[in-house]
Amino acid sequence: MSTSAVEEEQRGAAVSTSAVEIQARTLAGYADASRLRQVQDRDWVLDQVTGAPETLIDLGSGIGQLLQEALERFPTLRRAVGLERSEHRIAEAAARLRPYGERAALHRADLTAPEPLPYRAEVITQTSVLHWLYPDEERIFAWAAAHLAPGGRFLLTTYHPARDEHGLGGEDELVRDALVALGTPEEEVPALFARGGVLPIATRTRTVEDLTALLGPHLAVAGHRERDAVVTVDSAARYEHFHAATFGDYYSRLVPEDRRAAFFRAVGESAWRRQQERGHVSHMPVRLWTLVAR
Ligand SMILES: C[S@@+](CC[C@H](N)C(=O)[O-])C[C@H]1O[C@@H](n2cnc3c(N)ncnc32)[C@H](O)[C@@H]1O
Repeated sequence: MSTSAVEEEQRGAAVSTSAVEIQARTLAGYADASRLRQVQDRDWVLDQVTGAPETLIDLGSGIGQLLQEALERFPTLRRAVGLERSEHRIAEAAARLRPYGERAALHRADLTAPEPLPYRAEVITQTSVLHWLYPDEERIFAWAAAHLAPGGRFLLTTYHPARDEHGLGGEDELVRDALVALGTPEEEVPALFARGGVLPIATRTRTVEDLTALLGPHLAVAGHRERDAVVTVDSAARYEHFHAATFGDYYSRLVPEDRRAAFFRAVGESAWRRQQERGHVSHMPVRLWTLVAR
């Protein structure tokens, strides 16, 4: 091979897409990754369902895990409907829900501009999704109020990480560590977020007070529960994959393409360091709201 061909090949290898980047792009591996945090919401939410629901709508249904569990738990359920934006996730959910035939339905939807459905539900659920709808969450509150059957309940989980003076907190902190490890001065991280159009997740996750005000015109709070969501890992690689499956390329676009594999690795290493120092990677309050239409 000529010198230039070798150089060409090396350049190609340097910018070729790593497995973790492909995972982030397609949000793959969520079934495994979600065991660290999101799956705990699923059972917590379904434990609140009473009676014999016939229709349940899950907003941001991901790979269909909550719908599957609901179909298993409630034989009365004739219609378990998922609304979801990611086509990769819909495809994975469709495969998971195929055994349930017409009892399950999936629709591609953008929850910041949700289309009406021709029926109402006794139960509407939304777990680990609301922060992605910021700053347009009120639209889904109005939609849910309009789609609850009489006496129906909207069961919603929201995360509330502490935030610093720049609005960073939760996952933003691990990303900050990773960016610093890759050479960005720590004090420049908030400006890098802003330049890259990445709104900190701790800013997207509004406070309980803000959410109460936002949902107030559409929904009344019938009750709430709170728990501390603790994330622990047994290796850096485990967290690297959790980050890619959960946050996709949301943060990784802050670094040039040829540094993205290193970025994901650095996020995993930052998590593993915290695990060893603190006995956990992170913890934050999660609220389960029981909401009814006004
Ligand atoms: C962290 S996952 C949660 C999935 C599932 N609810 C769970 O608890 O495991 C967030 C989900 O919300 C979806 N999502 C984010 N923004 C959305 C939007 N604007 N419209 C519809 N779905 C959206 C994502 O594609 C992803 O599947």
